[in-house]
Amino acid sequence: MTVLVTGGAGYIGAHVVRLLRDRGDDVVVVDDLSSGVAANVGDTPLMELDLSVPEVVEPLEKLIDEYGVQSVIHIAAKKQVGESAERPAWYYLQNVGGMANLLLAMQHAGVDKLMFSSSAATYGNPDVPAGSLMREDGPSTPISPYGETKLVCEWLMRDAAAAWGLRGVGLRYFNVAGAGWPELGDPTAFNLIPIALRALTSGKQPVIYGNDYPTADGTCIRDYIHVLDLAEAHLAALDHLSQDDRPHDVFNVGTGTGSSVSEVLAQIGRSTGYAVEPTIGDRRPGDPANLVADSSRIRDTLGWSATRDLAAMVDSAWQAWEPTHGTPEVPPH
Ligand code: UFG
Repeated sequence: MTVLVTGGAGYIGAHVVRLLRDRGDDVVVVDDLSSGVAANVGDTPLMELDLSVPEVVEPLEKLIDEYGVQSVIHIAAKKQVGESAERPAWYYLQNVGGMANLLLAMQHAGVDKLMFSSSAATYGNPDVPAGSLMREDGPSTPISPYGETKLVCEWLMRDAAAAWGLRGVGLRYFNVAGAGWPELGDPTAFNLIPIALRALTSGKQPVIYGNDYPTADGTCIRDYIHVLDLAEAHLAALDHLSQDDRPHDVFNVGTGTGSSVSEVLAQIGRSTGYAVEPTIGDRRPGDPANLVADSSRIRDTLGWSATRDLAAMVDSAWQAWEPTHGTPEVPPH
């Protein structure tokens, strides 16, 4: 079968494309290359398209026809929480507009299987007791335009299912990290592990954004998920769509185990050999103290669960870092 992967040249998309190709699926990629890199997809057909403009619907339909696309994995999106607060209308245009145009093309072309990349950002800053796990049927109250666009896209998927029979699955990614292959790592990302690696390799120390949270060591707890585990979840979701007429609509993709910022930094010290002596900074606005997935729904329904731990994530992020990248500037706090 041929799978269309939007955002296939980006960090997560490239892992998904490689796994699909490795198992023998035909793949075609659509990417605007604003953050993706064409080399990430090797010789996979790649069409450079901006999904957010209405004019994209026609070329998308043509592409679906030409390649015999039977299902779509929609990863392409803007993903910076801070930027989304500065440019909310643009984020809606990009993320919700892109999804709407894709759905129009799929409906016209008669493609009814969609896997959509959602986010734990749909949960916002939940007011829950320490140790609580996020469940898909619990409240979704995003606190950033980014998280809102992901939730609206989930609704759009549900509405298309009701209106014309779309079979849709949304995967709510938690904190994605590591690399399945060194050349597919994401060292430029503005996330804890790459930021800390940039700091250390520039002779600086990472900054912990607050150590007075109601957690065991006072630093925020997140559910870090290896990008290769996440990519495997995409294949499980795709297979589920092919088998089941009425799939459940959203699944958390996490390990179910949280790690604190201090624990992640300690692992970075072990993996890299750097002496890690972080400084303590102010809290970052909007950070939840705890955000950990209840991962039982995806395990029970798709038969998927994570197999790689935090050490594997940090080791692989570091292996991806060293040979291919210099020592860029530390991004501003
Ligand atoms: N952190 C630091 N110092 C840093 C960078 C991060 O202490 O230099 C802390 C943050 O405060 C947070 C944790 O490390 O507690 C993880 O931060 P990230 O920025 O790596 O990730 P977030 O949990 O903020 O965000 C991630 C994704 C978002 C997504 C969100 C969903 O990057 O796209 O998860 O919860 F929306």
